[in-house]
Amino acid sequence: MENAVLQNMMTRFCCRKFKNAAVEREKLEAILEAGKYAASGHNAQGWHFTVITTEEGKQELLDAVCPEPPEFQKLAPKGATWPFPADFFGAPVVIMISYDPKCPWPDCSAYMAAANMMNAAHALGLSACPLTVYSKDVFKTEETAVNKAKFIPEGYQLYLSMVLGYPEVLTIAKSPRRANVETWL
Ligand SMILES: Cc1cc2nc3c(=O)[nH]c(=O)nc-3n(C[C@H](O)[C@H](O)[C@H](O)COP(=O)(O)O)c2cc1C
Repeated sequence: MENAVLQNMMTRFCCRKFKNAAVEREKLEAILEAGKYAASGHNAQGWHFTVITTEEGKQELLDAVCPEPPEFQKLAPKGATWPFPADFFGAPVVIMISYDPKCPWPDCSAYMAAANMMNAAHALGLSACPLTVYSKDVFKTEETAVNKAKFIPEGYQLYLSMVLGYPEVLTIAKSPRRANVETWL
């Protein structure tokens, strides 16, 4: 079906090589706004977005995370050292999405916001890629737990981080989508 929004969703892709170009504040605000308009459990909107736009900020994040990769990240890319990928794929911006666990369905809602932001980024000529390495457990040790306060509001849990910027290429051939994932009754 011909539709600009659907077309945007179907051409969105996860970029892993970014241009060395800053992202305009106005675009970042529009992307965050799209996140805030996501569906959320009981409309609690229990999310928080931490936006890192400077090299110093990214270095602070690298310095703040656990010295060892989280348990679920043992499948490091071959030859990669922790923290990986330390250059954030060259992206100028990192957005950390956290949630208030006291809210209903907080993790699902955070993902809804992430998806909205990724689609919004694509619509604005940008691209975003989630990075599970900087998600969930990166502040899990006692020493790094104290660092968490710099990035995440008190009582919130980090769920997903994503990198964002202008992609080196504007389109890629999307991998085929899995078939037979529907049940119709
Ligand atoms: C929850 C989640 C975690 C992801 N984590 C990573 C990651 O750590 N590193 C990465 O390069 N891509 C990551 N991705 C991107 C996926 O690999 C990507 O969405 C998938 O290959 C499909 O490609 P597309 O988004 O370009 O269509 C993640 C995606 C999601 C939804």
